[in-house]
Amino acid sequence: MKDSMQKKLKLKVSAIKEGTVIDHIPAKNLFKVITILGLDKIENQITFGTNLESRKLGGKAIIKVSNKFFEDNEINKIALIAPHAKLNIIRDYEVVEKRIVETPEIIKGIVKCFNPKCITNNETITTSFQVIENEPVALKCHYCERITTEEQIRVL
Ligand code: CTP
Ligand code: ZN
Repeated sequence: MKDSMQKKLKLKVSAIKEGTVIDHIPAKNLFKVITILGLDKIENQITFGTNLESRKLGGKAIIKVSNKFFEDNEINKIALIAPHAKLNIIRDYEVVEKRIVETPEIIKGIVKCFNPKCITNNETITTSFQVIENEPVALKCHYCERITTEEQIRVL
């Protein structure tokens, strides 16, 4: 696709003045990203677009959160389901910084263990996983040692 066409596609979601643009989210995981970042619980203006064309991802989504700047530990939580996400920090309409997400080695909370018999599914214990595979992601439960694969990930 031509560059000019690409730019037009991007403009389907209008530019923001201050805040964070999270780009290159796999379209199928858009709502999981929203939940993980708690975007459903904040008052900031949020716009998003989904099923936008992307050569790499098939269909991508983009989220723009006005007046919000994330901490690394907050944003790295989405690495599980959006490993290629790119963050653009916007100040006065300009992209002043680009950041990529990094998959943490240990994940505490956020996801459910896939094993229904796991203690974390039966008592009030925070889940804890070791990330044993990155793409696609595989998580090993600290309690029952069961592997939860990418398709099996359920956000708590
Ligand atoms: N953006 C925005 N509001 C602004 C500036 C940029 O919403 N005031 C968005 C753009 O629409 C784009 C993203 O932030 O989705 C990154 O902007 P830019 O770096 O200009 O685009 P590209 O160079 O195409 O970025 P990349 O190739 O890194 O994806
Ligand atoms: Zn478990």
